Amino acid sequence: MKNCSLFGIVLNFKHAGFMGVIDFFNTSSICTIKSQISLCFLASDRPSCPFQRNHRRFTCMASTVPLKNAEEESQQRLTGDSFIRPHLRELSPYQPILPFEVLSTRLGRKPEDIIKLDANENPYGPPPEVFEVLGAMKFPYVYPDPQSRRLRAALAEDSGLESEYILAGCGADELIDLIMRCVLDPGDKIVDCPPTFTMYEFDAAVNGAIVIKVPRKSDFSLDVKLITEVVEQERPKCIFLTSPNNPDGSIINDEVLLKILDLPLLVVLDEAYIEFSGVKSRMGWVKKHENLIVLRTFSKRAGLAGLRVGYGAFPLSIIEYLWRAKQPYNVSVAAELSACAALKNPVYLEKVKVALVEERERLFKLLKEVPYLKPYPSYSNFILCEVTSGMDAKKLKEDLAKMGVMIRHYNNKELKGYVRVSVGKPEHTDALMSSLNCLS
Ligand SMILES: Cc1ncc(COP(=O)(O)O)c(C=O)c1O
Repeated sequence: MKNCSLFGIVLNFKHAGFMGVIDFFNTSSICTIKSQISLCFLASDRPSCPFQRNHRRFTCMASTVPLKNAEEESQQRLTGDSFIRPHLRELSPYQPILPFEVLSTRLGRKPEDIIKLDANENPYGPPPEVFEVLGAMKFPYVYPDPQSRRLRAALAEDSGLESEYILAGCGADELIDLIMRCVLDPGDKIVDCPPTFTMYEFDAAVNGAIVIKVPRKSDFSLDVKLITEVVEQERPKCIFLTSPNNPDGSIINDEVLLKILDLPLLVVLDEAYIEFSGVKSRMGWVKKHENLIVLRTFSKRAGLAGLRVGYGAFPLSIIEYLWRAKQPYNVSVAAELSACAALKNPVYLEKVKVALVEERERLFKLLKEVPYLKPYPSYSNFILCEVTSGMDAKKLKEDLAKMGVMIRHYNNKELKGYVRVSVGKPEHTDALMSSLNCLS
């Protein structure tokens, strides 16, 4: 940019999905543009600016706006948010849960004394091998393998699906965003089936997509008829499905999934909690269905939520574009080492899963006895409860927090009057139940 005193460019985007590269050469205001856009300069130290467009040369005339006025005007107009993309200025921030360290400081209790049942983490944590490899980590100063080869090989063995179909990410969350960045142009539509994991709607908004909501039925099953109609009428590009669904824990059967796979759209099946369901993962289905992506995570199955490792199974015709678009070092050295170490101890992973499933059944029975709660049967490591008998769901969550028990409450309209409780260790259930009994 040396010697190129450029005060303003107006880019006239002909296509909302424009991706262009503009090179400014240093000796004059010559610039090259490798895209289909039209450009005009407000000011430059040379009167004209030749540049290429699809191998043809174009000339832009410099503006006749006096430099001083333009400078004053731009100083008046420019506030930080004027640089932000307009659709993001409208975006409400994602509502994260309260960090448990913050609550523990507020209550004057040790973090380990907080009963954290609000984010579906695995309270048993990872197998001991994970702590060993983290302690013995030799090369934290070297960038990680951009292809996470060791992890993908281990995942291939774990899942039975070849590693070329697998891509790892900084949590399943990163993969949701990466898929949207690869698939959606601003203004494209996605189908979301609330109540469900709110990140789909949030990431769609960040990516400038339009969310078509097809609410679940009163038993939280998918409304396949309405989904089919919406697909015919609105031509959305993809649908996000979750099995087991967060927050109610219901699963999607093969028949329903196959019907949706028959529709002309990309189906992203989020299996973050599949291990607790007793149902086999559909990762292998991506070999047969070119419009299916399956997402999974180490956060729940292996107690690695804090280290951020997720993975997905993709058809080969899709995965190559994700490789191109992903951040090169998206899975850290610590995350890859930990995930590989966790997979080396399947006995531990199985034991923890069985403990959580057994505890889920005990918790369900106990919640059923609470006069102001109606729990829903769940295939996951959490239980959704309707708060009844005139009790306020938000106040219930706040009262429990004061006693050091964190559960999830919702502000959205679909889940007003509901709370979600993660399955913890038996002693967590006991603490929750005695707090709930205090409130009866
Ligand atoms: C349905 C669902 N998908 C994905 C995630 C995020 O997984 P990760 O921790 O791997 O980003 C969550 C987290 O709670 C979830 O509930």
